[in-house]
Amino acid sequence: MDEFLEVVIQEHRVRERRESDGDALDFVDILLDLQRENASRTPIEDDTIKAIVVDMFGAGTQTTFAVLERTMAELIRNPETMKTLQNEVREVVGRKDEIDEQDLEKMPYLKAVLKESLRLHSPSPLLIPRELTQDTKVLGYDVASGTRVMINVWAISRDPSLWENPEEFRPERFLEMSTDFRGLHFEFTPFGAGRRGCPGVTFAVAVDELVLAKLVQNFDFKLLDGAKLKELDVSESNGKCPLLVVATPYVC
Ligand code: HEM
Repeated sequence: MDEFLEVVIQEHRVRERRESDGDALDFVDILLDLQRENASRTPIEDDTIKAIVVDMFGAGTQTTFAVLERTMAELIRNPETMKTLQNEVREVVGRKDEIDEQDLEKMPYLKAVLKESLRLHSPSPLLIPRELTQDTKVLGYDVASGTRVMINVWAISRDPSLWENPEEFRPERFLEMSTDFRGLHFEFTPFGAGRRGCPGVTFAVAVDELVLAKLVQNFDFKLLDGAKLKELDVSESNGKCPLLVVATPYVC
């Protein structure tokens, strides 16, 4: 990985830049610009740039597609929900070829489906561990400085004192409440919260909403012959039980 990223950095350094590059600058270009601008104040080492790139790929890829796969699995297990979602998306998009972000704003059910999927299938069910920097009291318990703390988002998202019928996949619950995942509602934090909360949340949600909308707009889905809905595994298996479906193009 280190050798590969070394080549990427060197290629970006020698590449000639033109004014017209503008928006075409990529993430590595921007990190190298920051490195140059900060050289005399807070130097940024090449190793730091490599670590940030690895971090972004590690944090941003598997999470985003795992959410999509589990959402599709829930939709196939819940055909009524799939139908409601397809109706909403197909009605908003009509005969257009492309879906854009303005269209997504008119799809409250799509947003609710994604939230419900994130509630039940957070790809980071224990967030990222924290370490206490000072002695603290939590709910009457003394917790010493230096203690490693994990937040069990999986359990909080299924706590029956917070959620009605928590095991049920029911996107409608989010149409009836304003609970959001941006770190202000502690009963629902699939992207974490606070200073170390996920910086990719806006991008991740835009990607997942757009891909989900395109999938259900353009295809009808069913399980492979013989597979039974009840047996469909939606547990967090990281690829051990891949979702296999038949996609039939939908022509409006
Ligand atoms: C649906 C997709 C995603 C989910 C569910 C998700 C979730 C999370 C969670 C739970 C954390 C830990 C937050 C905490 O402990 O408070 C995190 C951290 C992080 N995420 Fe995401 N993430 C997603 C997509 C992305 C994307 C697309 C990117 C980048 C393009 C990204 C970049 C990061 C980074 C860099 C961190 C570490 C932040 C830090 O430690 O300061 N994530 N993410």
